[in-house]
Amino acid sequence: MCHVRKSHLFGGICLIACFILSFNFYWPRRYQLTRLGSPPICGGQVPNDTITPLNDQRTFIISAYKDNREGNIIRILGIVHHKEVKELYCYFCCNSNTNVYPTRAGIDIHQDRFGFPYGLADIICTEPPDCRAEFVSVHWSPSEVVHNLTSFRIRNRDPGQFTANFTVCFSAMYRNYSNVLQFIQTIEMYNILGAQKVMVYLNNCSRQMEEVLRYYTEEGTVEVIPWHIQQYLKVSHNWQYPNDGTEIGYYGQLSALNDCIYRNMYSSKFVVLNDQDEIILPFKHRTWDTMMESLQRENPNVGIFLFENHVFPQTVVSDGNFTNTSTWNRVPGSNLLQYIHREPDRPNYFNIRKMIVDPRAVIQTSVHSTLKQYKNSKYVPLETALVHHCRGPLQPQLPREALIEDKTIWSYNGSLILKVNQMLKQFSEKPR
Ligand SMILES: *[C@@H]1O[C@H](CO)[C@@H](O)[C@H](O)[C@H]1NC(C)=O
Ligand SMILES: *[C@@H]1O[C@H](CO)[C@@H](O)[C@H](O)[C@H]1NC(C)=O
Ligand SMILES: *[C@@H]1O[C@H](CO)[C@@H](O)[C@H](O)[C@H]1NC(C)=O
Ligand SMILES: *[C@@H]1O[C@H](CO)[C@@H](O)[C@H](O)[C@H]1NC(C)=O
Ligand SMILES: *[C@@H]1O[C@H](CO)[C@@H](O)[C@H](O)[C@H]1NC(C)=O
Ligand SMILES: *[C@@H]1O[C@H](CO)[C@@H](O)[C@H](O)[C@H]1NC(C)=O
Ligand SMILES: *[C@@H]1O[C@H](CO)[C@@H](O)[C@H](O)[C@H]1NC(C)=O
Ligand SMILES: *[C@@H]1O[C@H](CO)[C@@H](O)[C@H](O)[C@H]1NC(C)=O
Repeated sequence: MCHVRKSHLFGGICLIACFILSFNFYWPRRYQLTRLGSPPICGGQVPNDTITPLNDQRTFIISAYKDNREGNIIRILGIVHHKEVKELYCYFCCNSNTNVYPTRAGIDIHQDRFGFPYGLADIICTEPPDCRAEFVSVHWSPSEVVHNLTSFRIRNRDPGQFTANFTVCFSAMYRNYSNVLQFIQTIEMYNILGAQKVMVYLNNCSRQMEEVLRYYTEEGTVEVIPWHIQQYLKVSHNWQYPNDGTEIGYYGQLSALNDCIYRNMYSSKFVVLNDQDEIILPFKHRTWDTMMESLQRENPNVGIFLFENHVFPQTVVSDGNFTNTSTWNRVPGSNLLQYIHREPDRPNYFNIRKMIVDPRAVIQTSVHSTLKQYKNSKYVPLETALVHHCRGPLQPQLPREALIEDKTIWSYNGSLILKVNQMLKQFSEKPR
């Protein structure tokens, strides 16, 4: 398609750097600290990956969260076989080794499993009284030796302060993802719109993308969560079960999104749930801050805002004649500023939406809506904003004249070009 590859310089530097650099970078520093931090008092192992299989090979634990919204419960996110996992127990590691009780867990499998045998479950346990556990373990039997079990740190114990107004959650970056220019432009656009953080659940990407992720991780904008789900389950590229023996849909997208909401529950005022080729673009406002302030003022009981997705096909190219973008030709990937035509909605078709949520209002989420929540949802009309989705066409038969010209992205040209150029300059000057 529109991948420009004059990238000898960029590519060369990147490739050499990638060989020199250790493989370790996409364990972000914060994650490493958690891994290597103080061991649990009960002596169990701490997890060595984002996903931890239990020895039944039917349960895969992601993380444990204190849920302050409903009494004394600990919500553990795990992927389970929907039929074969009936009984699980939590082992809380309280302040002494003698004080460990197995507690029967409730297992709430999320409704959106789309036919796959495995789906995300909330494994819910009540914390024993007088126990302020730092760690919890999970097992299918109530009579295990706790020292032998993996201990998961209970996150969100101390809510603390917001460190971000907006955190963007990408579900999974997979299959040698290499659209570097569009990714950089997208991160810079989020930044212009008001985001402080982007969470990337990284399954696989190209070497150059690894370098870019490393740059943004060090800069503090991106947090990479390793997501090697195919080491544990047969992953499908489809969202819906094709009855082909695969075990979980779309690289475990739903598990990543729910985990992202809980990880950012108290650190971010809003969480933006969209893919890496999507940007929620306001029409009436310049930033997400002013847009959300206005939407919240008008809708005090709403915690979930849904935005219409509109495809800007990368087959229809326009030239904005912008200055100062010549260095972009050296970066592989699509240039967002070249796509200003969007496909019209298809009649009698489910035109999808993406969300900005108050994470504290969400209990379980799917991709296009939430599943369980404390507050209402609201469709945000197209006059206010849309999801700018730059990708291959969904309606390739449509001629250019049938598309809708929409130059909203161009109105950000000044700051976008400046920021992308600053990034590329610092990136190329970085000692490696
Ligand atoms: C984690 O530890 C288990 C068991 O010790 C091992 O089989 C697995 O390969 C390790 N995973 C990673 C990502 O290091
Ligand atoms: C716990 O692990 C030890 C070895 O580390 C093993 O000898 C023992 O049988 C295990 N206990 C249980 C109940 O699995
Ligand atoms: C969040 O937005 C407010 C104004 O809307 C601003 O004052 C504050 O600095 C922002 N917070 C961060 C972390 O950028
Ligand atoms: C992506 O997959 C390739 C081929 O399996 C592998 O060599 C590479 O290390 C993977 N990259 C990441 C970031 O996981
Ligand atoms: C990954 O993508 C890059 C850039 O498009 C390409 O050079 C490389 O050969 C790809 N690697 C694999 C394993 O497909
Ligand atoms: C592009 O911009 C330059 C000045 O920046 C102008 O001279 C030129 O005519 C423009 N070209 C087109 C096709 O608009
Ligand atoms: C292009 O970049 C140069 C140097 O960075 C700057 O002086 C100039 O104002 C820029 N031009 C535009 C149109 O932004
Ligand atoms: C670029 O942005 C400026 C405002 O920042 C605007 O006046 C100009 O029309 C934009 N350029 C295009 C081609 O839309």
